[in-house]
Amino acid sequence: MAKKAISPGGSVSGIVELPGDKSISHRYAILAAVAEGRSGIANYSTAVDCRSTLRCLERLGVEVKIGRERDVQITGMGLAGLQVPKRALDAENSGSTMRMLAGVLAGQPFPSTLTGDSSLRRRPMRRVIEPLRQMGAEINSRDGDVAPLEIRGGKLRAIDYALPVPSAQVKSAILLAGMFADGVTSVREAVRTRDHTELALREFGARVEVTKGALRIHPGPKLEARQLVVPGDLSAAVFLIAAALMLTKSALVIHNVGLNPTRARVLDFLISMGAEIRVAAVESRHSELVGDISVRHAALAGGQISGAQVAEMIDELPMLLALGPFTEKGIEIHDAKELRVKESDRIATLAEGLRRMGARVEEFPDGMRVAGRSAGKLRGAKVDPEGDHRIAMALSIAALGADGDTVIHDAACVAVSFPDFFEVVDRLRGKKGWLKRPWQE
Ligand code: S3P
Repeated sequence: MAKKAISPGGSVSGIVELPGDKSISHRYAILAAVAEGRSGIANYSTAVDCRSTLRCLERLGVEVKIGRERDVQITGMGLAGLQVPKRALDAENSGSTMRMLAGVLAGQPFPSTLTGDSSLRRRPMRRVIEPLRQMGAEINSRDGDVAPLEIRGGKLRAIDYALPVPSAQVKSAILLAGMFADGVTSVREAVRTRDHTELALREFGARVEVTKGALRIHPGPKLEARQLVVPGDLSAAVFLIAAALMLTKSALVIHNVGLNPTRARVLDFLISMGAEIRVAAVESRHSELVGDISVRHAALAGGQISGAQVAEMIDELPMLLALGPFTEKGIEIHDAKELRVKESDRIATLAEGLRRMGARVEEFPDGMRVAGRSAGKLRGAKVDPEGDHRIAMALSIAALGADGDTVIHDAACVAVSFPDFFEVVDRLRGKKGWLKRPWQE
């Protein structure tokens, strides 16, 4: 799919269940690979990013079987059993794969190389290189900051590390490396980031202590294989939720979505703007909260995001900004310069796309303001998400509320996190009603 044309209008209604959470899928796969015995991961993410993780694990000698129902079986090699890879490990577009695997590879007594696509080879890696070097790993990179990363690991030193940038990926890399250290490794975070790694490590039997603002991991013990179910991806659900909020007569139920409090802040923010969102049937699965979300069309007031909220909604910010023209007062975001080092410079890419669609946009070094309804209705345009999946989806949803057709360049990039995005949106717009696990039909 080189281009995707989107005609506006209609509503989104029905019941849908989404593929597994991308962040959680990466973690379960990586931990299963270094556990003892065979783990089963049901509802593993369909995202290309998560396939990249599985491929890298296979290159490390791990047996991975993918079943028909997106159930993945992984035969763990134990903490000391990974094999020397014959070729570079290609994380493709996935920052999580590269940064988290760097943590595991830092603890392996063999050389390995992590590389990625042109976007990933531009993204900052010093943030993982620095702490892993302090732990004793040798890491070479281009300009000391970008991939390919050549890693020669081994026995590591425990460190006490304060994260200079809020990043769950960096926190995870250090915690994973901590399993191979000679003592208790601590990571301190001033701003809370998603805690899936801490929860998953415990689930597999690692000793992790969590106190306010700090995490401590003890080295060793053997990890045990587990049978796990991944909750639906809330960050993918947010695009559908936004469509339902925008389009009149919409009413949507999303089943089995991850509601981990370190990820679900976006729902509170939408509710604070006037969204009608209800959460029901919440239960805890492997310490991750899961539940059903219902949402219907509502008038949104607009709002501001800054400070600690940014890290908690980092992947949802593009969609929230693209909702700006459909709100009363617009959306303004600050303290989000991290958006500039994601799969694209998300501030620049989104600002350009929204401007082409007629939105009134002000760009800041650390954020953006998108004016509300009074600045006029969006119009269809040709837009280029620069290969960035979340920008492609955010602009596609905004296009549903524009006047005239929008053409999204290189729209296939949505597969990085949500391969069935366009099909799911089309079918929910087709009012097919019950639409369970559409990617399996
Ligand atoms: C992720 C953490 C975030 C997020 C990314 C997934 C994770 O990145 O943007 O999509 O799974 O840990 P940072 O750690 O760079 O903030």
